[in-house]
Amino acid sequence: MPAVDESPSNVLPPSVEGARRTMRAVVHRQYGEPEVLTLGEVERPVPGDDDVLVRVHAAGVNIGDHHLITGKPYLVRLSPFGGVPGPRHPVPGATMAGVVEALGAKVTGFRLGEEVYGQAAHGAFAEYVVVRAEHLAPKPRTLSFEEAAVVPWAATALQGLRDAGGVVAGQKVLIFGASGGVGTWAVQIAKALGAEVTALCSARNVERMRALGADEVIDYGKEDFVARGARFDVMLDLVGSRSLADCRSVLTPEGVYVACAGGGGDWVGPVFRIVGGLVSSWFTRRRFKTFVMAPNGKDLAFLTALVDAGKAKPVIERSYPMSEVADALRHVGEGHAQGQTVLRIVG
Ligand SMILES: NC(=O)c1ccc[n+]([C@@H]2O[C@H](COP(=O)([O-])OP(=O)(O)OC[C@H]3O[C@@H](n4cnc5c(N)ncnc54)[C@H](OP(=O)(O)O)[C@@H]3O)[C@@H](O)[C@H]2O)c1
Repeated sequence: MPAVDESPSNVLPPSVEGARRTMRAVVHRQYGEPEVLTLGEVERPVPGDDDVLVRVHAAGVNIGDHHLITGKPYLVRLSPFGGVPGPRHPVPGATMAGVVEALGAKVTGFRLGEEVYGQAAHGAFAEYVVVRAEHLAPKPRTLSFEEAAVVPWAATALQGLRDAGGVVAGQKVLIFGASGGVGTWAVQIAKALGAEVTALCSARNVERMRALGADEVIDYGKEDFVARGARFDVMLDLVGSRSLADCRSVLTPEGVYVACAGGGGDWVGPVFRIVGGLVSSWFTRRRFKTFVMAPNGKDLAFLTALVDAGKAKPVIERSYPMSEVADALRHVGEGHAQGQTVLRIVG
C-alpha cells in the first residue's frame, strides 16, 4: 500500500483527521471476468487542491466499467484509465453520488456535508472517492443517491445529441440502442431538446420507450430500420452493429451520424469504424461525428435542472449491494441492459 501523502495540500481537515485511514473498496488487481474483483480494505484517497473527497452512497455500473475490468477491447489498457500489464488503478468505478467529506484547499462552491453527484476518474466502487470539483454538482433534490449516481451517463447522451449531433427543436432523431444505460437518457434528452424521436430497440422494450416519450418505436426484431425508408436529421448510434453505409442511408442529405459505440471486437473496438466514418465523410454532405464524453460540472448542472423539472429521470433496472459487484458487472457485460445498474455502497 502506498504511504499516506502528508504534504500540506493533502492534509485532511479536522473532521477527517484522526479518523480511520483505510476504507472498504472493490479491488481490481488483474484483468479478467468480474470474478477477479475482490472486496478489501485499502488506503483512503486524499484530495488534492482542486478535488473533493466524497463519502460514496451509490455508484453507477456500466459497460465502460466492464471494459476496464476485463481489459477489453485491449485498446482500453493503453488509455489513462487502463494500464499495462495490469490495471493502473486498483479501485474501479466512476459515476457516483454521496456526501462531501473533505475539500481541497482551492475548492470553492461546495460545503462539507453537501449531497453531490458526479464522475470520478476511477475509484467510485469504495466508501470514499476523490473527484475533481469541476466534475461534481449538487445532487438533484428530487433523486435518491442511487438514482443520482447514474445521472452522469446522461451527459453522454447530451454531448452526443446536442454537441456532436447539433440537435435542435423539430429535427427527427433516431436513437439506435435506445433501451440501455445511455439510450434511456438519450430518448428523454432528445425529447427535451424538442426533437421528434424514434427509438430502435427489442420487442421487450417497446412499451418502455413509449413511456419515456419516444414518438415512434421500431422493434428491430420485426422491422429493419434501413428498409423502412424513413430519413433522420441525426442518428445516435449506441450499438455499432450496422454498416456505415446502412446508417448513412437513413440520414437526410445533410444529416449527422453520431457514433457513440462501435462494436469492432476485442482488439481495437470502434477504431476502424471511426476511421472509416471520418474518411467517407470527405465524399458526402452527410456528416460523421464521434466523441468521447468529457465530464463537466456545467453539463451536470444542466442535467440536474432537467431532472428536477421532471423532464428526464433515471431508469434504474437493477441495484446490487457492494458485495455483489461481480453480479452487477456480469449483468451490464451481457449487453442487454434495460436502463441503468447501481452499486449500493451504503445500505
Ligand atoms: N463515446 C463515449 O464517450 C461513450 C460513453 C458511454 C458509453 N459509450 C458507449 O455507448 C454504448 C452504449 O452504452 P450503454 O451504457 O447504453 O450500453 P448498454 O447499457 O449495454 O445498452 C445497450 C443497449 O442496446 C440494445 N441493443 C443491442 N442490440 C441492439 C440492436 N441491434 N438494435 C437496437 N438496440 C440494441 C440492448 O438491448 P437488447 O439487447 O435488449 O436490444 C441494450 O439495451 C456502449 O458501446 C458504450 O461503450 C460511449
